[in-house]
Amino acid sequence: MEVTINSLNHEGKGIARIDNKIVFIPNALPGEKIKIKIIKSHKNFDEGLIEKYIETSPDRQTPICPYYGECGGCDIMHMNYTKQVEFKIEKVKNILKKFSNIDIEPIVIKSDKELRYRNKITLHYKNNKLGYMKAKTNEIIEINSCPLVMDYINKEINKLTNSKTDIIIRENTNGQIISSIENNKMIENINEYKFQIDTKSFFQVNNYICSKIFEIVEQNIETNTTCLDLYSGVGTLSIVASKNAKFVYSIEINEHSHKNALENLKLNKIKNIKFILGDVSKEIKKIKEKINIIITDPPRKGMDKSTIDIIKELSPDKLIYISCNPMTLARDINLLNNYELTKIYTLDMFPNTHHVECACILNKKELKTF
Ligand SMILES: C[S@@+](CC[C@H](N)C(=O)[O-])C[C@H]1O[C@@H](n2cnc3c(N)ncnc32)[C@H](O)[C@@H]1O
Repeated sequence: MEVTINSLNHEGKGIARIDNKIVFIPNALPGEKIKIKIIKSHKNFDEGLIEKYIETSPDRQTPICPYYGECGGCDIMHMNYTKQVEFKIEKVKNILKKFSNIDIEPIVIKSDKELRYRNKITLHYKNNKLGYMKAKTNEIIEINSCPLVMDYINKEINKLTNSKTDIIIRENTNGQIISSIENNKMIENINEYKFQIDTKSFFQVNNYICSKIFEIVEQNIETNTTCLDLYSGVGTLSIVASKNAKFVYSIEINEHSHKNALENLKLNKIKNIKFILGDVSKEIKKIKEKINIIITDPPRKGMDKSTIDIIKELSPDKLIYISCNPMTLARDINLLNNYELTKIYTLDMFPNTHHVECACILNKKELKTF
């Protein structure tokens, strides 16, 4: 079948229509004419695969990775970087319009690097193979290197061919490597701050974008405020906020991250943060102080409704919501209906993938008295 691609879905797949039914086609760009075959049919849409390009888009580039298309990591490496960024801005705008009825122009922060930006990888071991997961399967694709990861991680991959277990490798900005085999720790420097991290704790994967998030947080913490940092990881955003804030409460569930966070207090000589180990939805109920600003940076599934209800009861003047999933962000913004989204940054944390990071500023709506 010959089709023309009209637009892209949220995963960056091309959208075409055949007899009024939508077909999603990976590796296809708007305007392209292609010959496809349908590989799976669903009630409301079909999935297609390209057999032949008839006309290609000027936005197309040749993917640099030999595993592209097979590996489950990158999915928009066939778009040039300008198009990738444009796709992510449109995606965030469309989701906010469709699901939250918000019209807003994001402030765009690109990655400084399109390749070699990732400071962490997870290699999986299965059926005598070590590598990445193939797209949408449980199979392993063995790799010699990955163009997204920092240089020393790539050197390390080649030394691990005999390994018989899953492995996480991390690299810091000084080129130091740690891996889950030795279970060791390292110090990362971002802006003026130092962070102890290990392979089991969370840390943003793109150091440049991480530093930009720090700047956004710092600019939005007024002096003498009491802040609450939810899903606080190794304490990054709490530590940034503590510079201007009077006091910061932070809640994180992962024990490794919590231990790192306590070390990070000492490393940065900070006294005005209390790190609480536990589930946000339980621990937030114990906060009795007046909170002026809440920072929240939940995992992809977003916040649960009970947490949002408590946030509304705590009634801070401002929320700084960092999100790696615009769909759950839009859902949570709807629930936070006494807050107005006043600013949104789209940050390209994950070039060559369809994923996008957002940093939002939400201000409490003024109560109208008549
Ligand atoms: C996206 S990360 C953000 C970490 C941190 N703000 C940063 O910028 O590095 C989300 C964090 O939420 C933590 N987390 C997930 N579910 C949680 C829960 N129910 N309660 C507390 N923390 C949770 C994870 O362990 C992870 O550290």
